[in-house]
Amino acid sequence: MASAELITASQHILDQQRLHHPTASGEFSLLLSGVTLACKMIAAEVRRLGLTGLPGGTGNVNVQGEEQQGLDVFANNALLHTLGHRGIVGVLASEENEDPIVVLKDPKHGKYVVIFDPLDGSSNIDVNVSVGTIFSIFRRDINNGDKPADDVLQMGHQQIAAGYVLYGSSTMLVYTTGDGVFGFTLDPSIGAFVLSHPKIKMPDRGSTYSVNEAYADSFPPFCRRFLHWVKSGEDDIAYKSRYIGSLVADFHRTLLKGGIFLYPPTASYHEGKLRLLYEANPIAMIAEQAGGVATTGHERILDIEPSGLHQRTPFYIGSAREVELIGRFHEGEGPG
Ligand code: AHG
Ligand code: MN
Ligand code: MN
Repeated sequence: MASAELITASQHILDQQRLHHPTASGEFSLLLSGVTLACKMIAAEVRRLGLTGLPGGTGNVNVQGEEQQGLDVFANNALLHTLGHRGIVGVLASEENEDPIVVLKDPKHGKYVVIFDPLDGSSNIDVNVSVGTIFSIFRRDINNGDKPADDVLQMGHQQIAAGYVLYGSSTMLVYTTGDGVFGFTLDPSIGAFVLSHPKIKMPDRGSTYSVNEAYADSFPPFCRRFLHWVKSGEDDIAYKSRYIGSLVADFHRTLLKGGIFLYPPTASYHEGKLRLLYEANPIAMIAEQAGGVATTGHERILDIEPSGLHQRTPFYIGSAREVELIGRFHEGEGPG
């Protein structure tokens, strides 16, 4: 790509701020550059995993009751470090930390809240399958001056930005600040994320459904009826099944190709496995900004009033047609 057209993520973020938030102080751009720096550090580790000596399982169990992988810990520390020293973050919260971390109590300085899943798809790390990082950004709620940790309990539609990095065949950053979805590919020769997917739009229908069918017997009946219909061939599209087991990778395919990803309630996870604040909300903001839909089966994900940092939610996300269809099954209707 000639240097004239080369737009880096840092440049793009500044351009977007100038375009849509002309009075912006540049602090938000500084914040996002903290996220991209940490993700470049994580990408470097992912690319050399077999050589770095980072342990697979650390033997430690995190707040989720899951064994932490060495890369979970590395990724978490990278984000805590780069974001904790920007002088503009008030509160940090992570899948790997039981409680939010108050970095700057005074909302005049610590303007932002960043909530993240530092390493999504941990079970795929040691078999060299794509994993990711997911982040969600809010402004501090200045009314929480005396309890800043509550600033993480804001509804998804209050996010000012959301994004993920996919450590796949290439390393891609996908983010939105509410004015469309943009994709950047890490160019290792210059160490920068370069704009490669301007204004991503999700197809309004697709031909794949993505769900872990091992749990199908314990899915809600409406979900089982939907999956039966999807496989029946009654529709004018013959659906294929695709499931990677890393949310970021399964969603990225859905974002670019359309279709539906589902993580319904199961016997092990009565509310579904995926966490609202650092998985469902940021991914839902990206989906909606690209023209897709994200629900609990009947409620918009971004309208859920959070009650806890690690709360889980049923998660149906993807093309408008398929997600609205499963909503009709939820209402007891059919595809008709
Ligand atoms: P994490 O590695 O951050 O805990 O997330 C794993 C999640 C998500 O990435 C994926 O969609 C889901 O777990 C897969 O769950 P199953 O293995 O139950 O299918
Ligand atoms: Mn995850
Ligand atoms: Mn994780």
